[in-house]
Amino acid sequence: MEKEKVLEVQNLYAAYDEMVVLTDVSFSANKGEVTVILGGSGSGKTTVLNHLLGLLPIEKGTVSLLGKNVATLREVEQVDLYLQMGVFYQNGGLLNSLTVAENVALPLNQHTNLPQDLIDEIVFMKLGLVNLQHAFYLYPSQLSGGMMKRAALARAIVMDPPILFCDEPGAGLDPVSLEILDKLILNLKNKLGMSIIMVTHEVSSILRVANRIVFLDKGVVVFEGPLHEALHSTQPAVNEFFSVMKNENIRELLKG
Ligand SMILES: Nc1ncnc2c1ncn2[C@@H]1O[C@H](COP(=O)(O)OP(=O)(O)OP(=O)(O)O)[C@@H](O)[C@H]1O
Ligand SMILES: [Mg+2]
Repeated sequence: MEKEKVLEVQNLYAAYDEMVVLTDVSFSANKGEVTVILGGSGSGKTTVLNHLLGLLPIEKGTVSLLGKNVATLREVEQVDLYLQMGVFYQNGGLLNSLTVAENVALPLNQHTNLPQDLIDEIVFMKLGLVNLQHAFYLYPSQLSGGMMKRAALARAIVMDPPILFCDEPGAGLDPVSLEILDKLILNLKNKLGMSIIMVTHEVSSILRVANRIVFLDKGVVVFEGPLHEALHSTQPAVNEFFSVMKNENIRELLKG
């Protein structure tokens, strides 16, 4: 049976002024899966995400989120749809002048009329999901790198998004903190049924979390399919990426 799709991208084109970055990008993501977008630095991964999230206008091609073609929606409906998307970016983007709880509560304060005591309860619960309840009253400057990422993750999921977009969520983390973050991401998928679209270079993360791989090269998708197929792909760019990965794994084995 065909899986339900939460995201479908067809023939997406993108350019910054004269420079074409995406010539013809098509792929989809299934409900309840982690889809990892791979590709070399500058291949356009962040550009793709920014188009999916409405941060850059779609000049050519179509993007459907949760079964809705974004271009056919009225502006208010678009805003409503994008509000349903969770976004977790590399630097986390926590505001230093606010406590962890206030940071996590921001989307609720901005987009709902819930009373403060209920907001506090929701925030406390979300902080529980990322093992950070003890940091409720702390400020970002009092957190470790891994804790900051987890606080940003709590904020990204505070509105219970059906889809969570992550751009290099593990960047800059040590291997232990990275593994903890990956487990939290897997929990969101397994326990809450969230669909996750993630950009990452971290080989260990890819092996731990990916169900499906989308590989970008020279403006197009050169591979799309399950992780186990990607690992054995003969497509040159994909093969090169994963052979580097295999070597790294061997090096880690030798170290251990
Ligand atoms: N705002 C922008 N203005 C002009 N060019 C841009 C802009 N953002 C990205 N680019 C260019 O578009 C190309 C793709 O960039 P993008 O950030 O999407 O790559 P990426 O795959 O996310 O790379 P990385 O792995 O390094 O994050 C690059 O050549 C980049 O220089
Ligand atoms: Mg990027």
